[in-house]
Amino acid sequence: MILNTEVKRRRTFAIISHPDAGKTTLTEKLLLFGGAIHVAGAVKSNKIKKGATSDFMEIERQRGISVATSVMGFEYKGIKINILDTPGHEDFAEDTYRTLTAVDSVIIVIDCAKGVEAQTRKLMEVCRMRNTPVIVFVNKLDRDGKDPFDLLDEIEEELKLSVRPLSWPISMGPTFQGVYNMFEQKLNLFFADDKQTVADDVVEIEDINSEILDKHIGGYAKSLRDDLELVNGVYPEFDNEPYLKGQLAPVFFGSALNNFGVRELLNCFIDIAPHPRPIATETREVSPFEEELTGFIFKIHANMDPNHRDRLAFLKICSGVFERNKPYLHTGTGKKIKFSSPTAFMADKKSIVDTAYPGDIVGLHDTGTFKIGDTLTQGESLKFKGIPSFSPELFRYIENADPMKFKQLAKGIDQLMDEGVAQLFTSKANGRKIIGTVGALQFDVIQYRLEHEYTAKCRYEPINLYKACWIETTNQEQLKDFRIRKYANLATDKRGREVFLAESPYALQMAQEKFTDIKFHFTSEF
Ligand code: G4P
Repeated sequence: MILNTEVKRRRTFAIISHPDAGKTTLTEKLLLFGGAIHVAGAVKSNKIKKGATSDFMEIERQRGISVATSVMGFEYKGIKINILDTPGHEDFAEDTYRTLTAVDSVIIVIDCAKGVEAQTRKLMEVCRMRNTPVIVFVNKLDRDGKDPFDLLDEIEEELKLSVRPLSWPISMGPTFQGVYNMFEQKLNLFFADDKQTVADDVVEIEDINSEILDKHIGGYAKSLRDDLELVNGVYPEFDNEPYLKGQLAPVFFGSALNNFGVRELLNCFIDIAPHPRPIATETREVSPFEEELTGFIFKIHANMDPNHRDRLAFLKICSGVFERNKPYLHTGTGKKIKFSSPTAFMADKKSIVDTAYPGDIVGLHDTGTFKIGDTLTQGESLKFKGIPSFSPELFRYIENADPMKFKQLAKGIDQLMDEGVAQLFTSKANGRKIIGTVGALQFDVIQYRLEHEYTAKCRYEPINLYKACWIETTNQEQLKDFRIRKYANLATDKRGREVFLAESPYALQMAQEKFTDIKFHFTSEF
């Protein structure tokens, strides 16, 4: 059966890291191995440049370019790999969270000198919510960094993950010798030259006790043997089951820039990483092997040309076979839609695709029908769970600055929210609209896009809020009391769910202490 084979040979994943740890470089090296690109730099040129932090126009422009690298598909050893790109800029963290709902596993890149950083910690929390299997790549071994044992402790503690090294570094920085690959039982020696294309000049030694080892790395041989003994004593054998449950992360060491340790990572990845997994809907679990197509929209990208308001919606296929020009049910509206030019993504290129399989991402032209989280099926009325909204960090009232353009403003806000640019809350007390974002940049983006794409003008007014909390309770009495007492702080989100807008950590704590039967969630899915 074609579907069976196609599902089993797919690996859809994201590389996540704190900015600068080496995500872009690693992505590029993986693409080089897949033969998807031939020179380094192809992905890099699309990266949102550093220093552009306050220049949202530049960031939006680069985001436009980066549509091409939103998904990078390539084949390696008969496996179809889909890398989903995640924006490095932290103001777009929400985009990254949503992308993580569409992957089956992740690779986390950690800078060996900096260890676990803030953004990595946050992204790992999202992975933990979904039990996403994680492989860790410790990068930049060609530079001095922390002691590998300390690093592993840090990863375990900070990311709340058990680890198992599958490769081990031999020294680091200027004296970096290479890594011993425990997964393949081979020694790979490092020759420091800036390799930009895939090369095969790695020395392999299969037996760690062999004298050839001493010949190659001299005095380092003893410390490697000692380290390995310790590793094998301290860490449990690698076991696929806890890895697939997101409890145990294999760790690799290397240097993405030097293309070192990347092949080992990739070989292990295709071996152990999961193919598309069953996904929960509100009514049942959908297996990727089901014949009928299902999928959900996890990302919407606006056209950068203000004259064309059409957008590209990214569909993650969850089951069945996607076919061009076949009508699919948009379960949100009940409409059947056909797609005449669905896009597939291969490395840095896009092309029209006739069929696609679970794990694949298809780009669909959209003139405003789709919202993030929408489901497509062949007729069944399903709704995939699990594209959570996270509480924004920053809040402002949004007001109409041009009374003649009321409708345009409403439509603009509506569509930008569907795209997931920010979140909209409506105060129950006064009906005022509140925009919540993860980064300050988003307010400028919204204002600019409303003006240029919808000819509407908005202005912001400050509001002092700390978090938006989605509330849950079975105690209706308490809820009634809560609603009366906290009326001024209640709002609805875009889907009409009730949200408590806490002004400060203290206000939240007080509410939690007073209303003990009410749960306050920082995400909309719980
Ligand atoms: P990111 O996507 O996670 O933000 O990181 P990116 O790959 O852009 O890497 C950040 C910086 O770290 C880049 O240097 C990159 O060349 C460097 N880098 C990546 N991997 C390694 C490695 O294994 N060893 C060393 N020494 N450096 C590494 P940059 O100077 O900021 O950018 P560029 O001028 O090289 O493009």
